[in-house]
Amino acid sequence: MDLHSRSVKDLPGPKGLPLLGNLHEVDLKKLHRILEDWVNMYGPLYKFRLGTHPVVVVADTENVQQILRQRPNIYRRLGAIETVFLEMGITGVFSAEGNDWKRQRRLTAHALDAIHLREFFPILLRVTERLRKRWMMHADSGATVDIQQDLMRYTVDVTTNLAFGYDMNTLEKEGDVIQDHLQKIFPMINRRINSPFPYWRYLKLPADHALDAALKAIQQAIASFVSQGRVRLAANPDLLTHPTNLLEVMLSARDENGGVFSDVDIHGNVMTLLLAGEDTTANTLAWTANYMVNQPEIQTGVQTEVSSLVSPTGMLHSIQNADKMEYSEAVANETLRLKPVAPILFLEPMQDVTLSGVTVEKGTSIFLLTMHGGLQDSNFQEASQFNPGRWLQPTTTSGCPFNHTPKAFLPFGGGPRFCPGRQLAMVEMKMVMAMLCSQFEIVKVDGPKPVTELFSFTMMPQNLLVRFKARNRTGA
Ligand code: HEM
Repeated sequence: MDLHSRSVKDLPGPKGLPLLGNLHEVDLKKLHRILEDWVNMYGPLYKFRLGTHPVVVVADTENVQQILRQRPNIYRRLGAIETVFLEMGITGVFSAEGNDWKRQRRLTAHALDAIHLREFFPILLRVTERLRKRWMMHADSGATVDIQQDLMRYTVDVTTNLAFGYDMNTLEKEGDVIQDHLQKIFPMINRRINSPFPYWRYLKLPADHALDAALKAIQQAIASFVSQGRVRLAANPDLLTHPTNLLEVMLSARDENGGVFSDVDIHGNVMTLLLAGEDTTANTLAWTANYMVNQPEIQTGVQTEVSSLVSPTGMLHSIQNADKMEYSEAVANETLRLKPVAPILFLEPMQDVTLSGVTVEKGTSIFLLTMHGGLQDSNFQEASQFNPGRWLQPTTTSGCPFNHTPKAFLPFGGGPRFCPGRQLAMVEMKMVMAMLCSQFEIVKVDGPKPVTELFSFTMMPQNLLVRFKARNRTGA
């Protein structure tokens, strides 16, 4: 053993109290910012404690990239993620490990590939048109709107339609059971994976009972969709080659041995896609709206770009037109750089590893700050500025004329577990931006509280209020 090697206990970090560690300083709703502040004080590799449990925080891009690439063999998601998800009955690709993960990754990546995405375009159009109608009503009434809530309705409708072909239509209804249930899950995942003690196994608080009821209702709904899906497929074998939703894709998919996937795999992954696809995309779009109201020239930029790509009601003529929206993609990238909705990835090594000369033992919690690199001036010139133009500069073989380091940009993670829903999310975001900017102008409404970040496994804007003004009334 190298006598000079350092271990986790030698790492700098906030001091903490006996037994409690740094629990008293860790407000889970601001966890990402607290961890970023500590990078400024202790550097890009430091430790803190949740109770007696040490956590290593890694922020520098080289280490983050290397760790992400070394999955699934050397690093895995935090053990608590698998246990907490399993206890909740969510046994899908996000929380699976090893061979289970490989099998399920194949299933979900296939379901979300570009070919299927093209088949799903009519669904995206239908739901985007509904969002336009909702916003036209807001424009007519002059209402002050919590746009994040509307965008959640949009992604719930898109994802439930895509996931199992069921039209939840929350955009045209007030209140909806499944959405209310789904909203209970992420905050509880955040609470449980960061809890030093699994209290809920011994004593359930009201929030834990509410979670149980929500999970039961969702599982029942999924079970009924899966059995209906099987009946549909048996009655119409054409759906095997032309599936109309993710459930049908998964029911018709074959594993590497040519076998079908089990009901457990299908249930777990339908649930996983529902959860992974909603908050992430809705929150990113909500942050985009926040930049748009603060810098209205972004709205004009998107409007100009899409004028020849959309119908009079702001619908993209084809999915291929999404590829032509370079400026809008730059707006999405800039939003994801400054407001990544998954700013922390929770992992652990499956063997002893060395990070910058420090030995980190197998099973130690590692929190990766994937947001950090994108916020550094050394990676992105004037990094705090929202400047879509930086993504549109020509990059030459001799390098960029200014600091622009895409490898420090990790909003969708990296390595073999990179987000398989990125393409779908990008198309959704471009369709909403095209419709929004061609049909409306949005302006900021100053509410009683400022817009702030709220972290609950994903990171969303709070108190973001806007008003819509119609640019034209075609087809209202
Ligand atoms: C703007 C929207 C989105 C963002 C920012 C986002 C971000 C992420 C991130 C950071 C991860 C972890 C990656 C890693 O561990 O390296 C992830 C994983 C995942 N995402 Fe997304 N995501 C988005 C939308 C979606 C959508 C729309 C879907 C599907 C409907 C989806 C499905 C998944 C799945 C299944 C995983 C787990 C992959 C695995 O463990 O192999 N995501 N996403």
